[in-house]
Amino acid sequence: MALADFLRQLDELSRTATVTFAAVQDEASWEAARVEFAGAKQGRLKALQKLLGQVDPAERPAAGKRFNEVKAELDGAMAAAQARLQAPAGGRRAAPRPEFDPTLPGRRMRLGRLHPITQSIEELKEIMGRLGFSVADGPEIEDEWHNFEALNIPLEHPARDPLDNFYLSAAGASHGPLLLRSQTSTVQIRVMEQTAPPVRIISLGRVYRPDTADATHYPMFHQMEGLLVDQQVTMADLKSVLRLFATSYLGSDVHIRFRPSFFPFTEPSVEADFNWNDQWIEFGGAGMVDPHVLRAVGYDPEVVTGFAFGLGVERLCMRRHNITDIRDLYRNDVRFLHLF
Ligand code: PHE
Repeated sequence: MALADFLRQLDELSRTATVTFAAVQDEASWEAARVEFAGAKQGRLKALQKLLGQVDPAERPAAGKRFNEVKAELDGAMAAAQARLQAPAGGRRAAPRPEFDPTLPGRRMRLGRLHPITQSIEELKEIMGRLGFSVADGPEIEDEWHNFEALNIPLEHPARDPLDNFYLSAAGASHGPLLLRSQTSTVQIRVMEQTAPPVRIISLGRVYRPDTADATHYPMFHQMEGLLVDQQVTMADLKSVLRLFATSYLGSDVHIRFRPSFFPFTEPSVEADFNWNDQWIEFGGAGMVDPHVLRAVGYDPEVVTGFAFGLGVERLCMRRHNITDIRDLYRNDVRFLHLF
């Protein structure tokens, strides 16, 4: 057999084997191709191996060399096809990635923000600071002296009822049983006990009352207490300060009105209402500091007078932002808190 003839048949086998194995899609077609090309008895490579013996002996080394090359190519094609069939689906060919688009906006970092009540508190401090009031602080766990006694609330007063207060089982020191303060008026006493008049402070903080939570009540809320004691302080000063405060916080179209009321620690006492968007809303209590209170802290009511007020921070904040349910403020739902 002529060498050229033999080589042509080898090339033909190599070409068809490459194409066939590149096209196999499953184990069965791979096996069929293997039998066709590399089968030990009837395979096409086996047939050519038999023909090799008929090639002219002088040309047999060249024929044998090419035969071995084609055998190696066939083995390679079979192995490649097998590897392709066994690769896991995902690894076969990943879905083409969309090209990176540098004009798309970046992914934004989500920033935290201050709770609406904290924001309100900061703003209230700022407004009252401009009116000359500095910030005072007091403890949330109080004794009966500061929460009641010094504020002219005697033992038999219904405000001291255990059902209306969070008394603590821990024993207090010299100033009676301990409780979570029910009002920030406690800070009035603490400040006056430690400073000589004149006094011009606000105090902002949490107070606690055992109320069932509903749209307008919560067992914990915030108050802003104000206290001004000096010579010749009158109700007119109280009204101007509250009006200035209201117009600064809610807008220049806010009106203010006083309704007669009663608190043990002020005389006379009033409820302060703000008119906003054609509605009168009660924002808290106020009045002239009762002489009993001034005396309890060592002030002389013949020399100094003063006014005090206590406003609900939640109410101010809810009015301002049109929040209708106080519980929303304390559910800690970031989707809600993110609105402010
Ligand atoms: N402490 C009163 C309350 O909690 C409010 C108040 C404060 C009234 C100061 C008068 C003066 O209802």
